[in-house]
Amino acid sequence: MKTKDTGSDAKFASKTTTEKSPALKELFKDGIADLYWAENHLVKSLPKMISAATAPELKDAITAHLEETKGHVKRLEDVFGLLGEKAIAKKCDAMEGLTKEAEGIVEETEPGTATRDVGIILASQKVEHYEIASYGGLYQLAITLGLTDVAEILEQTLSEEKMADTKLTDIAGNEINYKAAEEA
Ligand SMILES: [Fe+2]
Ligand SMILES: [Fe+2]
Repeated sequence: MKTKDTGSDAKFASKTTTEKSPALKELFKDGIADLYWAENHLVKSLPKMISAATAPELKDAITAHLEETKGHVKRLEDVFGLLGEKAIAKKCDAMEGLTKEAEGIVEETEPGTATRDVGIILASQKVEHYEIASYGGLYQLAITLGLTDVAEILEQTLSEEKMADTKLTDIAGNEINYKAAEEA
């Protein structure tokens, strides 16, 4: 096949089908299985953060993102379906560590304080950034592997993770950080 050498896309397009890159596709599937574990874990972990938080806007933001997270689990099941695979989770040590850290912050801070809310925001943003990195990387890899439908699904979740992170930044910057700065 003759391709116009107009850039890296055209140059590499014919080399990177999943049939020709089984090892890369395996790496991709591993990443999806890792995220599937992470999202399922978050469905169990986010309710703990909702009950530990005090500010209504923080509780609402995490509650809304919990609903989105349930959708992320479903989307990954769709991805497995498109890949012709069963949805099987692979334990994600990073997400386990991030949620442990969040629970540790809750234990170390006083209930009902803005300081605890700040801690919850910090821990939650680390979770969102892990997800953004994972979905961003896997989205790009899906494009490379020619898995356009899969890429579109991953992009939808990626944009929700980014919005969740922005929302947390807004909540911190608008009020909670200042409230916490007033606390003893
Ligand atoms: Fe998610
Ligand atoms: Fe998220």
